[in-house]
Amino acid sequence: MTEIELIIDLHANSDRQGPGSKEDTLKALEHINLPTNLPWKVADIGCGSGGQTITLAQNSPAEITAIDLFPIFLNELNDKSRKLGLTENIVPLQASMEDLPFKAAELDLIWSEGAIYNIGFSEGIKLWKEYLKIGGYLAVSEITWLTPSRPVEIEEFWKEEYPEITTASTKISQLEENGYSIQGYFYLPPKSWLDGYYGPMAGRFQAFLDRNNHSDIAQKVVRDSEDEIALYNKYQDYYSYGFYIARREG
Ligand SMILES: C[S@@+](CC[C@H](N)C(=O)[O-])C[C@H]1O[C@@H](n2cnc3c(N)ncnc32)[C@H](O)[C@@H]1O
Repeated sequence: MTEIELIIDLHANSDRQGPGSKEDTLKALEHINLPTNLPWKVADIGCGSGGQTITLAQNSPAEITAIDLFPIFLNELNDKSRKLGLTENIVPLQASMEDLPFKAAELDLIWSEGAIYNIGFSEGIKLWKEYLKIGGYLAVSEITWLTPSRPVEIEEFWKEEYPEITTASTKISQLEENGYSIQGYFYLPPKSWLDGYYGPMAGRFQAFLDRNNHSDIAQKVVRDSEDEIALYNKYQDYYSYGFYIARREG
């Protein structure tokens, strides 16, 4: 298996593929001021196995197209929604977030937890805006500095991983400059990283190594993940995922 296939294998059969929690999704949902007596046309972009998709479907009148690049995650989501009787509300779709099959001004809400970084925040907010109705909402979580300065080690790690990392004030300005008004912002607490993501992932390391015969690449995937967890434990006061809820203005 290639490294990317192994990364997908490590993240399969889990509730979430990134930091987050049901509480965070519900908190962001509180800022969506759309009429609740009508169905909402929603895209959940980079949905993974759909932790947040299920919460959205259960707590709003959303009719969701759940989009991901990888069928393994969409199949897991489909199994979950079948068990919960949500297949009418959640339609999985394999597509790239760079090339979405929506018409202009078709959507009431675009949701994307921990995924917009794949095309970059500044590119994503521009590209996706066209699919939103005027007055429609964008809810995205995105890696964000929590302080104006930070230790060199963590600064360099994230600059290498994702050069678009910046502070919330800069992200909010980017949204405003691109025709959105900010409706809410908060950042994910450590529990959403540790209990929601890193803890369960670390619990899968041994089985992942065993089923991949402890190959060199599988060991590298685990080492990289352990390094990322160690950095989070050391520097969690300096960064988190910010959750940005914004409305498309006319
Ligand atoms: C960090 S995970 C977040 C998944 C989920 N939203 C969550 O919070 O648990 C990012 C997701 O984006 C998906 N992804 C990566 N590149 C993509 C692309 N170009 N188009 C659509 N999805 C993509 C990955 O397969 C993965 O499921």
